[in-house]
Amino acid sequence: MTIRRNRALRGAIVGFGNVAVHGHVPAWKTDRHFTILAVCDPNEAQLAVAAELLPNARRYQSIDDLFSNERLDFVDVATPPAMHGEIVLKAAAQRVHVLCEKPLTLSVEECNRIRSAASAARVVVFTNHNWKYAPIFRTAKRVLRRGEVGRITHLELQTLRVQPPGGSGNGDTWRLDPAQAGGGILVDHGWHAFYLALYVLDAQPVAVSARTARRKFVTSGVEDTANCTIDFDGTTAEIFLTWAADERRNTARLTGTQGTIEIAERTLVVRVAERAPVETVFAQPLSAGSYHPDWFAALLDDFREELYEPKLRGSNFREAETCCRLLELAYRSSGADGARLPFRETLPPVEGAGTGD
Ligand SMILES: NC(=O)c1ccc[n+]([C@@H]2O[C@H](COP(=O)([O-])OP(=O)(O)OC[C@H]3O[C@@H](n4cnc5c(N)ncnc54)[C@H](O)[C@@H]3O)[C@@H](O)[C@H]2O)c1
Repeated sequence: MTIRRNRALRGAIVGFGNVAVHGHVPAWKTDRHFTILAVCDPNEAQLAVAAELLPNARRYQSIDDLFSNERLDFVDVATPPAMHGEIVLKAAAQRVHVLCEKPLTLSVEECNRIRSAASAARVVVFTNHNWKYAPIFRTAKRVLRRGEVGRITHLELQTLRVQPPGGSGNGDTWRLDPAQAGGGILVDHGWHAFYLALYVLDAQPVAVSARTARRKFVTSGVEDTANCTIDFDGTTAEIFLTWAADERRNTARLTGTQGTIEIAERTLVVRVAERAPVETVFAQPLSAGSYHPDWFAALLDDFREELYEPKLRGSNFREAETCCRLLELAYRSSGADGARLPFRETLPPVEGAGTGD
């Protein structure tokens, strides 16, 4: 479905919880290219919040009512993960474009169905890979492109949290419920780490191994801690994630053939032999808040370009598809005592990309 540039794009938010309220609405309200004309959430209290924040948006408690009553260009899906796939497929069946919160979906099988449905309907399915739009990772990418630290041979990414987001800290959050979350911290933060690794390394995975554990939320049905190693051709990414830490912190370290880039919260340091380290300090630490409205606002430019320009479609979907495969392999590896599993399947091209349709 091709979209004309001479009017604001009409959208609906599906799932009006924390990320919609704190992460998405501020950007939707200030971007003149988009207008949110409806909100859908089964929870009446959340619809009351929507009435305050978006008084002109119509409100629905079911997605079927939403699609029956509204003419939409896109939906912004921000429900818990287990519902994403079904909602994305319904939107594609209506020939409505999708901006979906991460994780796009929880299984490769459903991801394949989303690919087919989106291709058949010629709609964009774009996943919110917002950490790529954090100024500190953008800067790291520019340093890499300039070749200052050479070829990256090793990447470490760490996310430390004292509890999952939402809830009171006693385990009363859907993130610890496998039926809604579809997994634990690998689904929640692992997905971010996967696309960040793909972004900074610009390479395809070769093999994956992972181990997961329950260290703090031991009676929950999901892991609160994960170690995951992804081998790329000539590079290894080591990912460590936990909700059982005693501090809240994000760090990354990229080791190159000629130097290193160290990221810790709001600080980025580039070290190259025979030169004084170059430090850049950013306004916000990476772990400040959980919803990052400024990163979401920056991502909307790329979403809009995919809507307007079918030739540009596919790279975000391919990234999400790779994250989905990494996620499935990581859980499979964890169930096989950390076995190193090959990432061998070739991904088919995304239909509609490059056709000029
Ligand atoms: N990209 C990021 O940085 C980031 C940050 C936080 C959350 N998220 C993601 O956003 C999504 C939502 O997380 P949250 O923290 O806002 O959760 P939340 O629980 O605060 O909000 C979820 C909302 O979805 C609604 N909902 C449930 N089932 C629904 C359905 N079938 N149709 C419509 N609405 C439905 C709930 O009533 C609730 O209001 C998750 O996928 C999460 O992983 C991403």
